[in-house]
Amino acid sequence: SFADLPGFPKPTVAGHAGRMLIGKLGTKDVICMQGRAHAYEGHSGEKLAFSTRVLWALGVEILTLTNAAGSLDQEAGPGSLMAITDHINFSGVNPLVGVNDDRFGPRFPDVTSAWDKDLTAKLMACADALNFKLHDGTYLMAKGPNFETPAEIHAFRMMGANAVGMSTVPECLVARHCGMRVCGVSSITNYATG
Ligand code: HPA
Repeated sequence: SFADLPGFPKPTVAGHAGRMLIGKLGTKDVICMQGRAHAYEGHSGEKLAFSTRVLWALGVEILTLTNAAGSLDQEAGPGSLMAITDHINFSGVNPLVGVNDDRFGPRFPDVTSAWDKDLTAKLMACADALNFKLHDGTYLMAKGPNFETPAEIHAFRMMGANAVGMSTVPECLVARHCGMRVCGVSSITNYATG
């Protein structure tokens, strides 16, 4: 339980168990985080960065992020999945703000390849093999906790977003800062407002 792990934020959101499962998936060592901290819960950037840095310290090389998101695309309705190919950080939150800790990474990390193209291609190939339509697109993070207004969704669509949510970007930034490779999938739970 996160409650037993010093420094871990306690999830306050229903459906987030707040546990770390450690084991094997086939031959691979895997850690599965059941739940995360969100900016809208009032956590500081440092708190948001903590669990991802623990994963890195444990030797994790690849971070696969998942979330629930609202769709901005008519073709990707509720129940569909979207591989995240890039993101827009519209949250005003950045977990890397503050004095840089050089043990993790550089002051000004390059995020040209925030979302790993090879890993995402593997996700798409797996979906193809299962004959499953995996959408792909850009995820925009809003801070929340309110859902968006129709005018915001209109603006986000013009900005190039395909899905909107309230998480995931902080973990991606922290993971890229310390050199982990990142891929991710949004579970589309609804059409975004409007
Ligand atoms: N907006 C923001 N976050 C979300 C949504 C949404 O429509 N659906 C699930 N998380």
